[in-house]
Order: sequence, then structure tokens, then C-alpha cells
Amino acid sequence: MIRVAMFDTKEYDEISFEAQAGADISFKYLETKLNEDTASLAAGCDAVCVFVNDTVNKAVIDKLYENGVKLIALRCAGYNNVDLSAAYGKLHVVHVPAYSPYAVAEHTAALLLTSIRRIHKAYNRTRDFNFSLNGLTGFDLHGKTVGVIGTGKIGRIFIDICRGFGMNVIAYDLFPAKDSGITYVTLDELLKKSDIISLHCPLTEDTRHMIDRVAIEKMKKGVVILNTSRGALIDAEALLEGIKARKVGAACLDVYEEEADIFFEDRSGHILNDELLARLISMPNVIVTSHQAFLTEEALHNIAETTISNIRSYFNNEGLIDNELCYHCGHMEQCRKERKQRCF
Ligand code: NAI
Repeated sequence: MIRVAMFDTKEYDEISFEAQAGADISFKYLETKLNEDTASLAAGCDAVCVFVNDTVNKAVIDKLYENGVKLIALRCAGYNNVDLSAAYGKLHVVHVPAYSPYAVAEHTAALLLTSIRRIHKAYNRTRDFNFSLNGLTGFDLHGKTVGVIGTGKIGRIFIDICRGFGMNVIAYDLFPAKDSGITYVTLDELLKKSDIISLHCPLTEDTRHMIDRVAIEKMKKGVVILNTSRGALIDAEALLEGIKARKVGAACLDVYEEEADIFFEDRSGHILNDELLARLISMPNVIVTSHQAFLTEEALHNIAETTISNIRSYFNNEGLIDNELCYHCGHMEQCRKERKQRCF
């Protein structure tokens, strides 16, 4: 029997994992997030299963290792919260590289349409039998230029959606996709030319605060900024300034740099301690969702299926581990090609 401690568990996680876990795996569902104080709860378990806001730094990794844990199974794609170099040689790390890029791309489109057609305002008005249209004027997406930063799985699906609206698409990626038919430009050009900017690149040391004061300065007046990737891609203080200066026309945020202690929980009735987030939410042209872009039935099913299969692949065979992350190359495809074996 493989024992797995799942941290930061929500009801929907338990339902989808229980539906697919066989007799060979038992999950210990913990509501608490993984951090230095809670790592010892994994004692007696063979693996931990973690999500986007669990802390998997060196201290946590060392504690897990001391407690006999062998595997960190991320039930998400992004792994910026894991210190892979600290894990190397101690714990193997697997993730779910794609569970439904459609879920995230479609949520991005939903946020964009909601924002620019003022659906969030109209919904509240008509519930109150207020049928006035004043202040609800939007703009056509057709013919507008969207700048997509990061043209991986999610970015490309979002590009297809935008093309369906008749938008001009330009993109920036550190590694442009050859023969993709995508028009790549420099980041500067993208910032200057786009009516709408959507972030779909990972959070790395290079991309942290890539949307800062200087970047916002270069943008068109009235630009709409969409972030369904990682909060720290945007310097939220600079964004707020841009909104207050009427430079940024609207912002749609599914992620926020300091979300870890706030998102995913019901905090209604409590005073929000994060002044910046409270101020952003209070803006009429800001929409915040609580890291919800992944949350579709299809995605939850695929997350559970791939995570369980990743765990089995580590414990049931000697060779390659499905979807293992590697400290050296940081990319499992390259592990496969070059090493043809486990990361260590
Ligand atoms: P992916 O790995 O398929 O694509 C990422 C793209 O970003 C790649 O083309 C890569 O070359 C590019 N990139 C890397 N560094 C860059 C840089 N410095 N500048 C510009 N581009 C760069 O990843 P995928 O599946 O498309 O996911 C994108 C991001 O979406 C993830 O990193 C994750 O943070 C986020 N995400 C958010 C979810 C949510 O619920 N809000 C759910 C799933 C993912």
C-alpha cells in the first residue's frame, strides 16, 4: 500500500482522488498547507501530494526526507513553489504538465469578456431590477491587438480563442514556437502595441515582476491586463498605480503575488489584512478570481488521474518516472531524451 499525505485538500480534491484511487494507494487528506510546521504530518507516508500554495523549500524538503517521504507529487503544472535543487538527490518530484489547458485559456477569455462588456456590473444590476445601461459601454474585441506573453500549451489555446474573435495576435516567448504561424515580437514591441496583454509564461527569476512600473509606462493608455498564470509576474503596487493614473483600463487577475494565505478560503466576514488586494478589488475595472482558472470537471479528473499514475510509476517500477521534474534540466522531456533514466 502506497501512503500519500495530501496537503491543502479541498472537498473537490477528495472527491476526484477517491473516485480514482485504487486499493494500492491510500490518501491522508489534510486541510492544512504544507510548510515547516506541518511537514511532520507526513511522517509514515511514502509521498506527499501538494498544490500551488504549499511551501516546498529546503527546510520542508529536509523534514520530509527525515520522515521517510520519497516523492513529492504536485497536483498542478507550475512548480515555482518547489526548491528543485534542494530536492535533488533526496526526493523525486513529479507534476501534472497538462490537465486542461483549455480550462485556463477559457477562463482567461471569460474574464476578458466579463470585464470589457461589464457583465459583472450588469449581473448585479438586473438582480436589483436596475435595467439602466449607463456606464456599461464596452468595446469590440474584433480588430483589437492582443499580446500574448508565453506561447506554451495555454497561451496557444488562448491565441486560437482570440483569433476566433477576429483579433490581431502578437506574442513574445523566450523560445518562440517554430512554424506555429504566430507573429512574434520583442517584449517591448508587445507592450507598446497591445490593447490587451495576457500572461501565460511561468514564474521564474527572469519573469518575476515582468509587468512593473517601467513595463506599464510603455503600454497603451487603456490597456487591459490579464493574468491567469502566476501572481508575481505582476508588481501589484505598480498595477494599482497604473489603474489610479487611468493608464491601465482594466485588470483581470486569477492570481496574486500574496495569494497564498488568502485565496481558496472563505474570508467573508473577516477584515482583509492585505491593503493592496483590498484596494485592487475595490476598483470598478478590476476583476479578481481566486486561482480558479483550472477548476473544471475535466481538469479535476485529469489532475487526479495523472497524479495517481505518476505516484504509481515511481513506486511500481525501476525505470523512468512519469512527469518527473529534474533539477539539472528542469524539463522532463529532456530527461527522457538525454538520460533515459530517473533524475537521480
Ligand atoms: P507551458 O510550459 O506549456 O508554456 C509556458 C511558455 O512560457 C513556454 O512557451 C515557455 O517558452 C514560455 N516562457 C518561459 N520563460 C519565459 C519568459 N521569460 N518570457 C516569455 N515566455 C517564457 O505552460 P502552460 O501549461 O501553458 O502554463 C503556463 C502557466 O500557466 C504556468 O506556468 C502556470 O504558472 C500557469 N497556470 C495557471 C493555472 C491557474 O489555475 N490559474 C493553472 C495552470 C497553469
